[in-house]
Amino acid sequence: MKKLFVASHNQHKLREMAQMLPAFEVVADNPEGVEENAPDFVGNALIKVRAIASRHPGEWCMADDSGLEVAALGGAPGVRSARYAGEPCDTPRNNALLLKNLEGVADRSANFTCAVALVSPDGAERTVVGKCFGRIALSASGAAGFGYDPLFVPDGYDKSFAELSAEEKNAISHRGRALEGVRRILEAEE
Ligand code: IMP
Repeated sequence: MKKLFVASHNQHKLREMAQMLPAFEVVADNPEGVEENAPDFVGNALIKVRAIASRHPGEWCMADDSGLEVAALGGAPGVRSARYAGEPCDTPRNNALLLKNLEGVADRSANFTCAVALVSPDGAERTVVGKCFGRIALSASGAAGFGYDPLFVPDGYDKSFAELSAEEKNAISHRGRALEGVRRILEAEE
């Protein structure tokens, strides 16, 4: 099986990637000490994939950068999603802060965005972006998934991401949509 090196240590993301790209062996290679200081998801995904591509010449490498954008908060937490309530990443505090900042706010529309950057064996770079639109619930529900999943209700559903099965989430999620684009690129090139 072909290897796909992925710049992440997030077990939830790695599992979603392995589920959605079954033709590849997903190998985690988290870059140490890389500053994700780009102003957008695409820029940060490129920073991360470049940090590992030099270590794996002639191989496929991939990185994703993702987060939640809430319209009423001007797109926050955005690229700061992981550390919204401060460093290090603390999911219960992030979720509590999000609910607090939306207290009394009627427009709770939001979207998850996932940018994936790919480096092919010949060194060419490509990026794919996937989005999933929905709203922020008034309180958390569900135990599956990770991060803001218990607070995010995708459009057309009355359940949060954390109440959906992995297959249901992957079929509509920002990462699922971006990885569908990646799968097409990989299949066309292999
Ligand atoms: P990254 O690891 O720098 O891409 O940060 C992503 C952060 O955005 C995570 O720590 C979560 O807080 C949030 N996030 C991204 N994707 C998801 C998802 O699918 N569900 C819930 N939260 C997510």
